[in-house]
Amino acid sequence: MSLLALAEAHGTPLYVYSAGQIRHRFGLFEQAFADRAFTICYAVKANSALAILRLLAEMGAGFDIVSGGELERVRRASKAALKRVVFSGVGKQVWEIDAALKAGILLFNVESEAELELLAVRAEALGVRARFALRVNPDVFADTHPYISTGLREHKFGIDIGLARGIYRKAARSKWLDAAGVSVHIGSQIRTVEPFAAALGRVAALVGELRRDGHDIRYVDGGGGLGIDYSDSPAEPTFDPARKVKDYAAALKKASAGLEAHLLLEPGRFLVAQAGALLTRVVVVKKNGAKTFVITDAGMNDLIRPALYQAHHEILPVAQARAGDESLVDVVGPVCESGDFFARDRALPKVKAGDLVALLDAGAYGMVQSSNYNTRVRPAEVLVDGDEAKLIRRRETLKELLGAEIL
Ligand code: LLP
Repeated sequence: MSLLALAEAHGTPLYVYSAGQIRHRFGLFEQAFADRAFTICYAVKANSALAILRLLAEMGAGFDIVSGGELERVRRASKAALKRVVFSGVGKQVWEIDAALKAGILLFNVESEAELELLAVRAEALGVRARFALRVNPDVFADTHPYISTGLREHKFGIDIGLARGIYRKAARSKWLDAAGVSVHIGSQIRTVEPFAAALGRVAALVGELRRDGHDIRYVDGGGGLGIDYSDSPAEPTFDPARKVKDYAAALKKASAGLEAHLLLEPGRFLVAQAGALLTRVVVVKKNGAKTFVITDAGMNDLIRPALYQAHHEILPVAQARAGDESLVDVVGPVCESGDFFARDRALPKVKAGDLVALLDAGAYGMVQSSNYNTRVRPAEVLVDGDEAKLIRRRETLKELLGAEIL
């Protein structure tokens, strides 16, 4: 599929995703866990495009949601998938709990005692039983950016694993609560499998205790968080996603060996990050003293990961790459902030105004974290499936952007 033609047809900045790549990644999980009862609950927050949710739902995926808004997206994409939804998040509101109860979701991942009490009240009010898992905080360190690490006691997430038993005991008194599982999620972009195994090991021990206490625990939710290699050279890739998923599966299976429970997993990034690129055109190449700035028509409002997490994204000229013609440049957006950069001192083949460049591995936490900062409309999105390219979200218009405002 010609990216130049897509940029020509739909304009830039443009997110382009590969359906084949998403299916492939999903398939890796399916193969690696085939000998267990499991459901992949794709973390909607990573990329919530309806077309991508539908693609995954058609493959049998469940979904991990964190808001009433994400629940609505799953409903639009696939009503049948609602029964495979797990609901995470530290601040669930009454309307969101009610909507999820009415939709008959699989599991509430409850993050505090107060939330559990609220869930019981709402379940009673609606006359339905709520299946829940406590999201425990296992106090396991995961080496990742501090903004996306969640498994330590100092974080706002989960319930101290030491307090869990007492809370399950209390919950057993309510006939509106069904203590169906235990869940854990220690963070995102974690590149080794040991922290996942450590966390799941602690959860497995807790499940044993809970069963002895008489709770009918059927689900163990291992969360998401498996990382990818953003700085892998696209020319000579060494990152082996199939190997990674196999190692991850082996570690999780070992940590939960003998545990007769349905395993839930919530991968987001691993399924979609490398299936997406952000296409952007060079507006101008500008020299300031010794520095060269390649200024693109995409900015931090379209892809905030470099600005927010000092994240690395590979950048490639789409067509005019001339080997041996590289220089060190900063690739930056037009937004009025010095933090608006995609790369600093990056070796890039010579580009000029009008050239198309691709920011790679932008399929996860790209479009979903975009904003209208600097009154910029959000990008369009295209999903490529085989030799077909489908516009799955048209570019926002200025009229829409201003539409909600009252003068
Ligand atoms: N489950 C829960 C409860 C989560 O909080 C998350 C991510 C996931 C699953 C999916 O994690 P994944 O498999 O995608 O690592 N915006 C950041 C990432 C934030 C992750 C938040 N939670 C970034 O751009 O790196």
